[in-house]
Amino acid sequence: MKLIRANQTLKLKTNPLVSASDMEVLTSCLKNLSASSSFISMKNFTQHGRTDCLFHSISVSYYSLASASRLPFIWDKRSLVKGALLHDFFLYDWHTKDRSHRFHGFTHPSAALANARKEWGLNEKEADIIRKHMFPLIPAVPRYRESLLVCLVDKLCSAAEILRLRPSSQVKTIYLNTIEKKAE
Ligand SMILES: [Fe+2]
Ligand SMILES: [Fe+2]
Repeated sequence: MKLIRANQTLKLKTNPLVSASDMEVLTSCLKNLSASSSFISMKNFTQHGRTDCLFHSISVSYYSLASASRLPFIWDKRSLVKGALLHDFFLYDWHTKDRSHRFHGFTHPSAALANARKEWGLNEKEADIIRKHMFPLIPAVPRYRESLLVCLVDKLCSAAEILRLRPSSQVKTIYLNTIEKKAE
């Protein structure tokens, strides 16, 4: 087990997609959020294909960070990561037949925002990321570049999940570490 963990840590340090400093932002935010059992409970809800909501949210945060570092803008990476991790914090399985899920595509950003506000303080940018990630289905234009990036990366990750494309092994490692740490 120790050997596996050492190997995972090595992967986190050597993967070129996300820098070590960006990885620190992601792991520190995940550490704070995963103190909440509601946040971890996202692993119980299917998002797309075989992917659960927790994995999807980590994936969107990871690829948002990876994309941000390749674009020539200044980013608020803490807000980018926190907004991305909470953008689908709606806490139900939208595949189960229930009248309240009929308009899931339109209503889940508000549900995620309300749930997130019950547990954490959110700045304006983080709230905008969550509220507007379904643009253009919901005609609310993202106000910040962080919101626009999460909106785009969310669509790419969702398509990849539906097509069952394999994500970076680093995303899987972060996901397993998050669940394991909660179980310790
Ligand atoms: Fe969503
Ligand atoms: Fe999403």
